Amino acid sequence: MVQSASQQDVLEIVGRSSLSGHVKIGGAKNAALVLMAGALLCPDVCRLRNVPNLADVTKMADILSTLGIRIQHHEDILDIDAREISTAQAPYELVSQLRASFFAIGPLLARYGVAEMPLPGGCAIGARPVDLHVRGLQSLGAEVTIESGVVHAAIPGGRRLQGAAIHFDYPSVGATETLMMAATLADGETTLHNAAQEPEVVDLANFCRAMGARITGAGTNTIRIVGVEKLHGVEYSVVPDRIEAGTFLLAGAITRSEVSLSPVVPEHLTAVIAKLREVGCTVVSDTPNSLRVLKADRLTGVDIQTQPYPGFPTDLQSPFMSLLSICEGSSVVEETVFENRLQHVAELQRMGANIRVKGHVAVIEGVPLLSGAPVEATDLRASAALAIAGLAADGTTILQISVTWIAAMTILSVRCRHLALALPVRP
Ligand code: EPU
Repeated sequence: MVQSASQQDVLEIVGRSSLSGHVKIGGAKNAALVLMAGALLCPDVCRLRNVPNLADVTKMADILSTLGIRIQHHEDILDIDAREISTAQAPYELVSQLRASFFAIGPLLARYGVAEMPLPGGCAIGARPVDLHVRGLQSLGAEVTIESGVVHAAIPGGRRLQGAAIHFDYPSVGATETLMMAATLADGETTLHNAAQEPEVVDLANFCRAMGARITGAGTNTIRIVGVEKLHGVEYSVVPDRIEAGTFLLAGAITRSEVSLSPVVPEHLTAVIAKLREVGCTVVSDTPNSLRVLKADRLTGVDIQTQPYPGFPTDLQSPFMSLLSICEGSSVVEETVFENRLQHVAELQRMGANIRVKGHVAVIEGVPLLSGAPVEATDLRASAALAIAGLAADGTTILQISVTWIAAMTILSVRCRHLALALPVRP
């Protein structure tokens, strides 16, 4: 069971919990954020449905508002009115807090002809440069300079971007999204080679297509975009959050409980389900849009390497490591996507996990039981990892979470109520 604690940014988690029930999965955070940016492409009103109620969504709305975009948020519906864009200068204080807001540089440039976007900077999981975004925009004919930490992009002569063949050094999710959006309004055809294949990229392509864009190949490593004159308003529902769904499967697995989830697209979790089965969990899909993890008896360690989709997602690396820390035998986890995404290890060690780290590799020797402890999380996914570790641990875990992650963790707690759990966070 999980109870409220005395401080606003603290979760008190009483361990050895058994979960049961059904969880309703919300819309994908990372799809919703980029769809909000994508709505700038359209001189009309777009309605997004199934938008998760998270601090990041509010921040993104605040950033778009500074550009003159009108946004109305009601429950899970966002109405984005981008008929008028009053400025192309995004404010540093806000962009630095939300990397996804940088992705608005593509649609802003394509629609407005200029864009000034502060560099988003590094974050708790790595340096996170934007060179692939910048080089891609240059390939489309934009003049891009970086001065005093601000990226200035402009289309020479006030013309349109020009379609081009772009080859990414790495299948970056954000760069693929930025360039795909920019190319929808370019003259001619753009081909993105070695593009990211994540479901959030496909959701963005579907959203842009619904607005009238001509895009093929999203979900493969080669995306073709034929620029069109103008896009039009649409109503669109955000894809279910595969990372949230995976987190709840892991919550069920680590507490040896039966938990079902919907709506979810099971194929989006193929790599995660394969690893859960290898560990010894039974995961079934009773209907095309649901998943259920069954109570497991014996759990054994496995090796994991994070990769771009369809490989094992970096966003589920830390919660999966919580599970591996109580699996029998040894496991090796290699983080290849971000250079600094093993910070939760020190916190899991405080809870009694036996983990050694060398570079970007963690070697885990399973222990029978974790013990509750005061722990601190550095990013959203690490928070989730420590929360589910706390559910399985002996005793109480006090989890300090940055205010930034409170809203997302509140979602976790609210959804946990459906699992016959209480996990209130003080408002
Ligand atoms: N990279 C570069 N140059 C670039 C862009 C990326 O070197 O111009 C590097 C990054 O530094 C990183 C790797 O490429 O090492 C992958 O980064 P990618 O661009 O694919 O990630 P992103 O677009 O910044 C999105 C999600 C992340 C998720 C990653 C990988 C959003 C808003 N964020 O980030 O989500 O981990 O893709 O799937 O879509 C999270 O939700 O907690 C989160 C961090």
